[in-house]
Amino acid sequence: MGVPSLRKRLVAGNWKMNGSLDGNRRLLDELLAQSDVQPSAARPDAAQPNAAQPNAARPKCEVLVCAPYVYLPQLADALRESGIALGAQDVSVHAKGAYTGEVSASMLADIGCQWVIVGHSERRQYHQESSALVAAKVVAALDAGLTPIVCIGELLADREAGQAACVVQDQLEPIKALGKDVVERIVLAYEPVWAIGTGLTATPEQAQDMHGQIRAFMESDRLRILYGGSVKADNAAELFAMPDIDGALVGGASLDAREFLRIVAA
Ligand code: 13P
Repeated sequence: MGVPSLRKRLVAGNWKMNGSLDGNRRLLDELLAQSDVQPSAARPDAAQPNAAQPNAARPKCEVLVCAPYVYLPQLADALRESGIALGAQDVSVHAKGAYTGEVSASMLADIGCQWVIVGHSERRQYHQESSALVAAKVVAALDAGLTPIVCIGELLADREAGQAACVVQDQLEPIKALGKDVVERIVLAYEPVWAIGTGLTATPEQAQDMHGQIRAFMESDRLRILYGGSVKADNAAELFAMPDIDGALVGGASLDAREFLRIVAA
């Protein structure tokens, strides 16, 4: 059974591989204009991380956006002191060295990220990321002071075979093995793969059922568990009403400022 007062709601946008300098600027301008929080005048120290303060207009909800690597400095600058925090979408398991194309957790922290998504189903599916690798990335992120948002979720075939809970438990096992101290410093995102980008959202009851099982398995009332998969302004409130759903990881709808902020406000 959850203890909601221990868990502040979190809404995270995952822009995935979308954006351009001009398009981002427009989206950020809209986000900042409509969220009742304005960026302060630019300060000389561009390396200062964004303050992870809750959005001033929504003190009960933490908000962040996760953008492609190359745009993180642009977002760090635009979001400084906005109340909207910054995250990356993946991180190297390595700290530094001869790993061409990789970006380390300390580099992300250096340019102002506080968050990083790890183990997204698109990384598991297209880049063969194992749950053991995902757990190692969790450690790398925490070591650099980043908070990992760890994604888990079953395929449609798993659900139809009655295996959804087993699959999710297998994905969680290496994370749980890191110990309670680690578990209480991360955020989980349950994203059933069949609901991602398909317009098919899990019903609030289906999502709550899985979130409850995840919380029981991880043995933590403090752990925040987000739901992801076709979250929109018009289904967010019913999902957030569930006792073990602590917010959302939002893909497509995070590319529309008005829609995203309606989810934040839900
Ligand atoms: P959609 O909201 O576009 O379904 O994407 C969900 C997701 O994968 C967020 O990480």
